[in-house]
Amino acid sequence: MANNRPIGVFDSGVGGLSVWREIVRQLPHESTIYVADSAHCPYGPRPAAEIVQFSTEISRFLLAQGAKMIVVACNTASAAALKHLRATFDVPFVGMEPAVKPAAQSTRSGHIGVLATEGTFRGELFNRTTETHARGVTVHRRVAHGLVSLVEGGNFSGAEAESLLRRHLSPLMAANVDRLVLGCTHYPFLLPLMREIVGGRITIIDPADAVAKQVQRVLTRRAAPTDGSARHKFFSTGADTASLEKLLAHIGYPRAEINRLWWRHAALDSAE
Ligand code: DGL
Repeated sequence: MANNRPIGVFDSGVGGLSVWREIVRQLPHESTIYVADSAHCPYGPRPAAEIVQFSTEISRFLLAQGAKMIVVACNTASAAALKHLRATFDVPFVGMEPAVKPAAQSTRSGHIGVLATEGTFRGELFNRTTETHARGVTVHRRVAHGLVSLVEGGNFSGAEAESLLRRHLSPLMAANVDRLVLGCTHYPFLLPLMREIVGGRITIIDPADAVAKQVQRVLTRRAAPTDGSARHKFFSTGADTASLEKLLAHIGYPRAEINRLWWRHAALDSAE
């Protein structure tokens, strides 16, 4: 039976929009609610227990808004909280982990690079996948300090972005890496600049397409009717909604409906 309720999507900030836009592209009839937890961004350096708490409260909020499933569009939150969320709530969750498997299967040089946050590299999910699927391949892990705040600030190009990216990418190029996994949903917004820097030497893997396909598989009977009634709502816990506005305009949604959301006594409170 068709199901009009929205798909909930969240991230520590605006990065999850790299996944959100692919979901909307592949599933144009689905309504969505997106939460950017900009008040706590970045999640990367935070203790797992804290990320579990934030993710739980955001999921509770999305369910109160009627979400029929939740996409954790954040590698760091998936690493820390996905297991807990699935055990706590009675809706399907789709999470993320760095796409080590396709990189390891397709590398010719035997060297793959992974850019992610410290939280993601600490996670059991990443380490298990690497052990299972990257045997015989050298995995170069790099915590890409500074990239999340570039994207939150809407700096996708320019001298600062270029020099930071060169600092992260040069050692990988020197190590003969030929596949690079983007293990954080903020990084795909820097793809054009990354491609300029690495040229044809490295194939860069953005997992958004695979995640949207997984959403479609999980939806099955929960899919929305094809009546053109899809709506998209955005919430930010940040002091203002500027980052979200800027990024939505950048990806072609300049008139999106954006609301503020407050953390009160560790729970989320909507102004609506
Ligand atoms: N976008 C997030 C991820 O995919 C987290 C970035 C951060 O908040 O540190 O890991």
